[in-house]
Amino acid sequence: MTTPDATKKTTRARTKPPAATAEREEAPSKPGGAKDVILEVDGLEKYFPVTQGILFRKKVADVKAVDGLSFSMTRGETLGVVGESGCGKSTTGRLITRLLEPTAGKVVFEGRDITHTSQAQLRPTRRDIQMIFQDPYSSLNPRQTIGAIVGAPFQIQGIQTEKGIKRSVQELLELVGLSPEHYNRYPHEFSGGQRQRIGIARALALRPRMIVCDEPVSALDVSIQAQVINLLQDVQTELDLTYIFIAHDLSVVRHISDRVAVMYLGKIVEFADNTSLYERPLHPYTHALLSAVPVPDPEREKTRERILLTGDVPSPLNPPPACRFHTRCWKAQEICKTVEPPLLELAPGHQVACHFPEERVLV
Ligand SMILES: Nc1ncnc2c1ncn2[C@@H]1O[C@H](COP(=O)(O)OP(=O)(O)OP(=O)(O)O)[C@@H](O)[C@H]1O
Ligand code: SF4
Ligand SMILES: [Mg+2]
Repeated sequence: MTTPDATKKTTRARTKPPAATAEREEAPSKPGGAKDVILEVDGLEKYFPVTQGILFRKKVADVKAVDGLSFSMTRGETLGVVGESGCGKSTTGRLITRLLEPTAGKVVFEGRDITHTSQAQLRPTRRDIQMIFQDPYSSLNPRQTIGAIVGAPFQIQGIQTEKGIKRSVQELLELVGLSPEHYNRYPHEFSGGQRQRIGIARALALRPRMIVCDEPVSALDVSIQAQVINLLQDVQTELDLTYIFIAHDLSVVRHISDRVAVMYLGKIVEFADNTSLYERPLHPYTHALLSAVPVPDPEREKTRERILLTGDVPSPLNPPPACRFHTRCWKAQEICKTVEPPLLELAPGHQVACHFPEERVLV
């Protein structure tokens, strides 16, 4: 799947003013232009227990969905998170938005440790970190009007806006390219792309600082994907948002991400800025993912190297020991089966977890 060039990261200025949403205090800023860290994740783990028995349920194993993630993000950046199905991308997003409680590790948002904060204490943070979901069909209640769906965050948080909730919702609809007249319509009257715009409007209602976008364009046609990605970039510039953008493949995140984390079976295997990751990838798994990304030049497309990954992703219930990728890696040697490769910084900002990293040009 390709994402048209129209989706290239831009800083287009919009003439439209920001939507009048709930009153917010300004985001904390750092004096002296220091790097403004918005999110810190340290040793994050989520193990889902597998139980057996009818009367007395006994834990027999764990699904290691997320197994020791550490990274930080600065305000306004977009982190792409990529990997095959089941590698823990959505679980990571749900841990950061605290829809799930971590088994271990730490999530610090704007300097506040929110790892084990109670639901009541999380209330203000819920405004700051929002989520956009993959399926624009199931994520909108078919029985509610667009006005009720987009206005729900105001109701849930008990927030009144200066102009009234109806007017604020209509401004949000305009901000995402819909019409204020859509206020009384129902989700079934909209296309997939329009429904995703409604999901984005709902996520923007409380003026969040960060949005976890969980495969927001995977269910859409390629042409519509570009429009939705453009919209996300526009509102990011306008509202100074930080994004975690989850996707299955590297082509989708290329044009929106500043940095990219490649995940395999609950772990980050490569983490780099956009240019380094696409032009100088080091991990065999990243090589395989990149070789599947089509290139626009048909001549190059015909001649370039293809790496076909064989076999399915092993189960996170019983992941392979040491390097989890060794069962599918064409470079695997004995050490890969016995010693886990640590995630090491091999170039400034470029981390990789592999005993035999190698630079390859694939796109
Ligand atoms: N509530 C849960 N209970 C038990 N296991 C779970 C639960 N949620 C997720 N898992 C398991 O954790 C692993 C990671 O799931 P997750 O949904 O995070 O993957 P993903 O990378 O988002 O996959 P996809 O690309 O298919 O959305 C999977 O093996 C999944 O079956
Ligand atoms: S550590 Fe070994 S098995 Fe794992 S990715 Fe590197 S070469 Fe392949
Ligand atoms: Mg997912």
